[in-house]
Amino acid sequence: MKLTFYGHACFMVETAGKKLLFDPFISGNDKAKDIDIQSIEADFILISHGHGDHIADLVTIAKNTGATVIGMLEVTNWIEKQGYDKVVGMNLGLMQAEFGSVRMVPAQHSSSLPDGSYGGNPAGFVVTTADGSFYYSGDTCLTMDMQLIPRYGKMAFAIMPIGGHFTMNPDDAVIAAEFAQCDKVVGVHYDTWPPIAIDTEKAQKAFADAGRTLMLPGIGETITI
Ligand code: NI
Ligand code: MN
Repeated sequence: MKLTFYGHACFMVETAGKKLLFDPFISGNDKAKDIDIQSIEADFILISHGHGDHIADLVTIAKNTGATVIGMLEVTNWIEKQGYDKVVGMNLGLMQAEFGSVRMVPAQHSSSLPDGSYGGNPAGFVVTTADGSFYYSGDTCLTMDMQLIPRYGKMAFAIMPIGGHFTMNPDDAVIAAEFAQCDKVVGVHYDTWPPIAIDTEKAQKAFADAGRTLMLPGIGETITI
């Protein structure tokens, strides 16, 4: 599978011949100013929760690409109100999709939309296709629920926030990787703003000391995992 990082918590995974874009927030991120959102392709867009730093460019990219947007029902209801109705609202649980399956799993965080409306529960995703499975925790603290992830199969990799303050920090993410029994973690949701600035070398060492790998692709970089 191929993963392209677009800054903050936005990334695309190419799997089973489909492009799955997660949590599009680019134009409001100074660090991602070299990314042209008009050039981003997507077949599906998956949304973990309603906060602006996860959906700011959603409607623009959805309209550009015609992608199907998958998210919590309260979030997809809001998207429809923005004039985009190619959405699949779901809730925590397993759903079959064209590319495989999507399991929406709990995240411990909050979720409201830009207009202040209720966003339902925040969530993470376990995506399974013919190419394998991966786990995106979404914005969350470390939670015991992550111990359920191995029940859903061996994750080829996981994407986890590591910036602290609003989410897990690197030390929490090391434990989360152990809970999820995942050897390779792509770190996101760090260094975008001062409160979530981290020492990346120290973070990678913490993972290495635990026998795991923390991957930190540059903004715009594509890695194969
Ligand atoms: Ni959030
Ligand atoms: Mn966030």
